Amino acid sequence: MKVKTAVIPIAGKGTRFLPATKQIPKEMIPIVDKPMVHYVVEEAVEAGIEQIVFVTSTGKEQIENYFDRNCELESFLLQNGKEELYEKIKSIGQMTEVITVRQKEQLGLGHAIACAAPIVGHDPFAVLLGDDIVLSEKPVIKQLCEVHENYQSGTVIGVMEVDRKETDKYGIISGSVLDGDPKTYTMDSMVEKPKPSEAPTCLATPGRYILNPDIFQALSEIPKGAGGEYQLTDAINLLAKDGGVYAHIFDGDRFDAGNIPGYLRATVEFALRSSEFRSDMEKIIVEKFSEIRKS
Ligand code: G1P
Repeated sequence: MKVKTAVIPIAGKGTRFLPATKQIPKEMIPIVDKPMVHYVVEEAVEAGIEQIVFVTSTGKEQIENYFDRNCELESFLLQNGKEELYEKIKSIGQMTEVITVRQKEQLGLGHAIACAAPIVGHDPFAVLLGDDIVLSEKPVIKQLCEVHENYQSGTVIGVMEVDRKETDKYGIISGSVLDGDPKTYTMDSMVEKPKPSEAPTCLATPGRYILNPDIFQALSEIPKGAGGEYQLTDAINLLAKDGGVYAHIFDGDRFDAGNIPGYLRATVEFALRSSEFRSDMEKIIVEKFSEIRKS
């Protein structure tokens, strides 16, 4: 069955970005010329997703507004002969259908996903976490949808190889590689943020999943887990006991924009990959590099 809905949890307080996030949601902080959340929604839309469910909290209204039309701005741009910008701004409001649902208490990622249950209904759906932005020829969510279609509509977790000393930042999977499909695993188990010495593998999810509605039953059964929160990882682990859960090593370059150093790196990389800003960024880097070498 085609995956038409994506759930994007955005209820977090963004404390790692304070004071910037005192008045604006973290997801609205721009990387080059677009807010972070734009890249994540773009990935979903390019994968054929038709409806985005934002799981929000108080103070996140700007995100909903961003994906709406702004007729006043559009007519201003038209009247001032800025047709190209007008088209760009109009297309953001037409990108996708947006629905929001509130997470009234911050009880963890598992709890956030459970909040979307009444909207998701009985169909498979994608989950994208907004801190991680992946640039790839084929959107990561599309790559995972293909695995979902190829393997009996199973649950699919997008994974990447990380350094062992970083396993305590991620959900880590273990499983066995499939015959004839060396990037796909049948998943035996998944553990949230294990210490490097306890991690079963170094295959980590940066927050890209295709889930089936059976996840909601699993979410209702799990106790609080790592960090005292309801963890999506624990619910997926429960499903894996009955089989039908796959992990797929996706193709793409992933940027962790959820902390300031990662965000700075993403800004430089995205500018270098932009036809509009590449030469400006190159100039800045070359100038700064020679200044730094002299000092
Ligand atoms: C969440 C998930 C974790 C995943 C990570 C990716 O953790 O619980 O399994 O690997 O996102 O960024 P968080 O970073 O929100 O604590």
